[in-house]
Amino acid sequence: TLLHEELFQRISVLKKEMNALILAHYYTVPEVQQVADIVGDSLALARAAEKNSADVIVFAGVYFMAETAKLLNPGKLVLMPDSHAGCPLADSCPPVEFRKFKELHPEALVITYINSTAEIKALSDITCTSSNAEHIIRQIPEEQPIIFAPDKNLGGYLARKLHREMFIWQGCCYVHDAFTEPYILQACREHPDAELIAHPECREEVLRHASFIGSTQALLLHTESSSAQSFIVATEPGILYEMQKRSPGKIFIPAPKDRNNPHSLCTQMKQNTLQKLYECMQNRSPEINVPEMLQSAALKPIRRMLDMSA
Ligand code: 13P
Ligand code: SF4
Repeated sequence: TLLHEELFQRISVLKKEMNALILAHYYTVPEVQQVADIVGDSLALARAAEKNSADVIVFAGVYFMAETAKLLNPGKLVLMPDSHAGCPLADSCPPVEFRKFKELHPEALVITYINSTAEIKALSDITCTSSNAEHIIRQIPEEQPIIFAPDKNLGGYLARKLHREMFIWQGCCYVHDAFTEPYILQACREHPDAELIAHPECREEVLRHASFIGSTQALLLHTESSSAQSFIVATEPGILYEMQKRSPGKIFIPAPKDRNNPHSLCTQMKQNTLQKLYECMQNRSPEINVPEMLQSAALKPIRRMLDMSA
């Protein structure tokens, strides 16, 4: 394999030749974030995929993110460094079972987290991300029943915060669900001056101790504006790279998963290596496509989300 410097060089040449836009999620490895044109959370990356003049989109993230980019750009080539990088949360909601769940609540409006497959999006009314979920649900009349899928922790957080009963699919993100109260409290005791900040995909037993809860982007902005000098960060630690870059003087402590694991990593996000990113551009493969029969139905809730969160 080539050294990072050599890969940076080659990727930059290919980027110009292909008129490519490289998008990377904050949970990818630092060298992939370094080479990306835009690094962001799920919403920022969906927006970047919607509005750009590139011919090729290279998506360093997980499958549903590249799929969303393809739905927004059916005419463009969408590449992923590793097309096996799926999201277990998205995969925890199989379409056959989800159809049955919908049949139990036929009057409900279906709001689905962007961490879902195209098939599930095609069965949904509105997509949301952790950045805009609250804003979107606030626009739905109170008497309108809601199905929320697939993340039970985010769904529970929203239901409590907005005082709204929702029918919630019981999926979760293994990365965020791994944080538990005893180890979080231990970290707080070890770092008494640090502020605990958490992603809403974490359990309630963790969220209840956090002084700030928000999407990856919101957590990042909070660490910049807060007067605190140190933070215990209960989300995927890939975001620490950008946090540290923006606030070099502050201290960032990844929240521990248990006694032996000081981090909770998303293995799928880490499958996006710099080497694979280079190879996918060079080979123009693996290419991401969405079956034609799903395209318009899966795009509809994404468009509604973008319209409602403009
Ligand atoms: P956000 O990017 O919306 O913070 O979601 C986190 C996540 O788990 C992405 O897969
Ligand atoms: Fe999926 Fe969780 Fe990984 Fe995000 S962090 S891609 S929700 S498994």
